[in-house]
Amino acid sequence: MNNTVKLLQNHTSVRSYTNNPLTEEQRDAIFKAANQTSSFSLLQAVSIIRITDQELRKKVMQLSVNQPYIEEAAEFWIFCADFNRDHQIAPNVDLEYTEYLLIGSFDAGLMAQNALTAAESMGLGGVYIGAVRSNIEELTEVLHLPKYVIPLVGLCIGHPAEEKPGIKPRLPQSMVMFDNQYQPLDEEKLATYDQQMREYYQDRPVKAPFTVKNVKGWKDHIEDHLERSRMPFMLEYLNKQGFAKK
Ligand SMILES: Cc1cc2nc3c(=O)[nH]c(=O)nc-3n(C[C@H](O)[C@H](O)[C@H](O)COP(=O)(O)O)c2cc1C
Repeated sequence: MNNTVKLLQNHTSVRSYTNNPLTEEQRDAIFKAANQTSSFSLLQAVSIIRITDQELRKKVMQLSVNQPYIEEAAEFWIFCADFNRDHQIAPNVDLEYTEYLLIGSFDAGLMAQNALTAAESMGLGGVYIGAVRSNIEELTEVLHLPKYVIPLVGLCIGHPAEEKPGIKPRLPQSMVMFDNQYQPLDEEKLATYDQQMREYYQDRPVKAPFTVKNVKGWKDHIEDHLERSRMPFMLEYLNKQGFAKK
């Protein structure tokens, strides 16, 4: 197995960092790796807000369900879908179609993942922060995001403070990748995976604010997280920012 594949297969989120900063060289290399990511029709509809101001970092942490590592990480980057730049170049194009939301979200996700992979390849660690969307209106205000820009995900990057946590088991290939046709859920395989996750959670229980109920296995986890991830204000917010109106 080559080193890139090994790196990808060994991924695990890191939520505890030393207070060592990244060197400028490391930061630039991560940015360049992210910026070279494929982009839908080369629209490059992504902007990154790098939060360097500690007061602002604290505010963002508070808006993102108080996850302490947002403040502790050497770097905190917020990946935004950004059609404001494209809009200034082509002001007559109607950007209210939902497809633009998909394009921007997908590009931002790919770019963020290249940033994380680049960081991990340097022995650094990171974790995404989807919770930046928990108070998205307020975050939009504090970051001064104009119309056609929405914050999608944060990324903490830093030097791991301790040994990286163990690899979290994933669903088996037969439940995730199908030949030619979609396959219904296989209850037996699900039970096996659920048992694997029960064993995993026994050693590494999920702590608040990530759970509201006592999560024992993956089925519990799904129920818990699906309900909490609703963000019922989202459509109204997206429309206000000029996205997904039709
Ligand atoms: C889009 C996205 C948003 C996430 N948001 C958070 C978050 O707000 N807080 C957090 O601690 N982890 C967050 N994570 C990390 C996941 O919890 C983590 O990737 C998952 O549990 C699998 O663990 P692993 O990355 O260690 O394999 C997020 C991951 C993704 C892809």
